Parts: sequence; structure tokens; C-alpha cells
Amino acid sequence: MTVHADAGARDDRVRRVTILGSTGSVGQNTVDLLLRNREAFEVEALTANRNPERLAEQARALGARFAAIADPAHYTALKQALAGTGIETACGAESVVEAARRPATWVMAAIVGAAGLAPTLSAIKRGVIVALANKEALVCAGVLVMQEVARCRATLLPVDSEHNAIWQCFDRARVDAIERIILTASGGPFRERNFEDMRGVTPKEAVAHPNWSMGAKISVDSATMMNKGLELIEAHHLFQLPLDRVEIVVHPQSIVHGAVVYRDGSVLAQLGSPDMRTPIAYALAWPDRIEAPTKRLDLAAVGSLTFEPPDERRFPALRVAREALIHGGCCPTVLNAANETAVHAFLEGRIGFLQIVETVERTLDRIPEGKLESLDDVYNFDTAAREVAARLSGIRASPRAPGLTDLR
Ligand SMILES: NC(=O)c1ccc[n+]([C@@H]2O[C@H](COP(=O)([O-])OP(=O)(O)OC[C@H]3O[C@@H](n4cnc5c(N)ncnc54)[C@H](OP(=O)(O)O)[C@@H]3O)[C@@H](O)[C@H]2O)c1
Repeated sequence: MTVHADAGARDDRVRRVTILGSTGSVGQNTVDLLLRNREAFEVEALTANRNPERLAEQARALGARFAAIADPAHYTALKQALAGTGIETACGAESVVEAARRPATWVMAAIVGAAGLAPTLSAIKRGVIVALANKEALVCAGVLVMQEVARCRATLLPVDSEHNAIWQCFDRARVDAIERIILTASGGPFRERNFEDMRGVTPKEAVAHPNWSMGAKISVDSATMMNKGLELIEAHHLFQLPLDRVEIVVHPQSIVHGAVVYRDGSVLAQLGSPDMRTPIAYALAWPDRIEAPTKRLDLAAVGSLTFEPPDERRFPALRVAREALIHGGCCPTVLNAANETAVHAFLEGRIGFLQIVETVERTLDRIPEGKLESLDDVYNFDTAAREVAARLSGIRASPRAPGLTDLR
């Protein structure tokens, strides 16, 4: 994880904030915290894809300077909703990148999917604090993103609850003393289903996560456990640890979010109610802490916490993601793009639940392995993987993640 010692000190007293993906689940939780802590923050820019009403409402409530909507079809609605407010508006994938380039000192990267990569990189290039929820950016271009973080002296703060938990327990001054890190997984809604019974799972069942309220894509990823596979890759890049020092444990209560195991056998863990406002608040105020209105943990009421190993026979996504990282090069990019396409096809009712991971594996088999040395390579492998996965899923290919165009 890249946290520069002077990063907190460099920040202004009133933090100027931009939220990329403010209308989504993480984005709305961030807006909620900003509204509760108005005196400590001012808002530079907010972005959305297809929800001009919510974007306009947030921009008004927070007094944002700039509101960008990626899909131009919704620009008129945004302009009308913000007429007379003095809030600047723009549309298109490039306007989201422009939002990331504006002078905020803290940027929340909360766009879903590889579409978040270009704007996230634009914020990183400004050398500011980037709170990263958009795990797909690290999965599809991890080495390149981390190189940019170091080159531009940006500060990358993990928002994913597991990585945020590990970060809170991770002694950066004594990395040598760290043996391994532990990511917990809820196991998703089908933790106890047998493999064959998962064949008929509907999108509605798959998005109904037992503990967390999240966007549709990450909810399906949690149900297949691809989410934990993506997080394994994310953790490897953030904490710069080899795979054999990143452990995954299923913990159905989602109370222990992550832990760090030290050489002397000590295990430091972070606990809390499953509410994203805790990790977001930690990143938002870092290195301070602010009030978050989350349900306080009552350990006696929780009673017992249980842990079990993941079952990779029923949830092959974990193995597929691990193998993609071991193969390296373009494989994680292909994994991510194929998964985004297959999840989309599943949500559209075009493929079954078990076909999601099958499609990812078949796409990986069909695309010859190659090196990932530039953002052009990311763009090309992402596009190729989307085409293959779309063909396998019987849907029309979305040629690339919208937003990736800006990498060229
Ligand atoms: N939700 C969670 O609790 C949680 C926890 C940990 C990590 N994460 C990660 O955080 C990221 C966001 O997750 P989420 O659950 O908040 O997703 P979400 O609810 O689906 O929201 C996604 C956001 O991205 C915007 N967006 C979608 N496609 C876009 C595009 N092509 N260009 C520009 N903006 C686009 C959406 O705009 P519209 O609203 O206009 O469509 C929305 O603001 C994901 O990477 C996820 O894995 C989420």
C-alpha cells in the first residue's frame, strides 16, 4: 500500500473532495458522510453515468462546483436540473476524466468496473489522496497503477472494507514483521447451496446479499465469490505481498473485516458492523477520524463469530482469479473484462448463474497470454476479452469499458 509519510500534512485544513461515481452505493455513502460533516469538507466535482436526477440533487445539497455525467443521453436532464445554480456541467466519458483532473485534494474512486480506470489514473497523476473503492482498476492494470502512484507521489487509500481493515492494522514501519494478511469473505447468499442448486439462481436472488447493501455488479461478484478473487488481486497490489501471504477465510457474520498476522503470532483485526460508512469515514478523514453514524458493535449480542475455509469446488471463481494473477501479464485484465461482460449478461437474463465463471474461464483459455506493459495493452486486452465473453454469452459486444477510450 502506498501511503507517503507527508501526505496527511500536505492536505488543506478543509479537504476539497471529488467523488467519481457519487450516485452509486459507495458514492451515496460518501455523500451521506459529507453532509454530516459539512464544516470539514468542500466539494469540487461529482460524477454519474445515467442518473442525472440524483447527481443534480447531490450537487445542490453539497454545493459542488462541477457535475459530470458520462452518458450524453442524460445531459439535457442534468443541465435542466442544475439551471440557475452556477454549478458547471459536462457530459461524456472525457467529462468524468475532467472531473478527476479538477483541483480536489481528496478523490473517491467509486465508479464500478474498468470504466473507473482512466478517471482514477487522472486523479493519481495529480499526486493527491485517492480513496480507492474501484477494485477493478487495480485488477485490470495493477502494476501500471501502482507505478503511477509511486511516480506521482499520490496516496492510495483502500476503501474496500477488507483492505481498509488490513490497512488499519498494518504497521507500515515494520513490514518485515508481517507474516501474512487475512481477507474475510461473507460467503455470499449461496454459501450453503450445493453446486447444482446454484444453476437456477435468478438475478434477484444473486443481488440480495445477506449482510451488505451494494451495487448490482459487486453483489453478483459476491454471490459467485469472484469478488474475493478480485480482492485477492487488489490486496496483492495494495500491500505488495505475494499470493501465498494473502489468506482468505469465510466469515458469514461480516464482523471481522480483515486481519494482519505478525511474526510473533499476534493477529490484529479490525471489527465493525457491516456498513461501508466506517471504511469510507476512515479514508475521508485520514489521518484523523470523524463521526460515522453506523450501528455500534455489541459483541455480547453478536454472540459468536465463525470462520471456515472457502470451498473452491463450489466457488471456482477464487481459483480462476488466483491462477490469472499467477499467470500475470494480461490475464487479470482479461479476467476482469470477461467477468464484467458475463455479469452483465447474467443480469440481462442471457446466461445462467454458473455460466458467469465458466465464461470467464473460457475467455481466459481463448485469449493468448501476453505482456501488459502499457495502458494501450490494457485497452487492447480489455476490448478483446469483452468481445470473446460477449460472443460466449450470446450478447452484443460492448467493445470496451466506456471510459477506457481515454487511455489512448
Ligand atoms: N457497494 C459497496 O458496498 C462496495 C464495497 C466495496 C467496494 N466496492 C467497489 O466500489 C465500486 C463501486 O461499487 P458500487 O456498489 O458503489 O457500484 P454502483 O452502486 O453500481 O455505482 C457505480 C457508480 O459508477 C457510475 N458508473 C457506472 N458506469 C459508469 C461509466 N461507464 N462511466 C462513469 N461512471 C459510471 C454509476 O453511475 P449511475 O448511478 O449514474 O449509473 C455510479 O455512480 C466497485 O468497484 C465495487 O467493487 C463497493
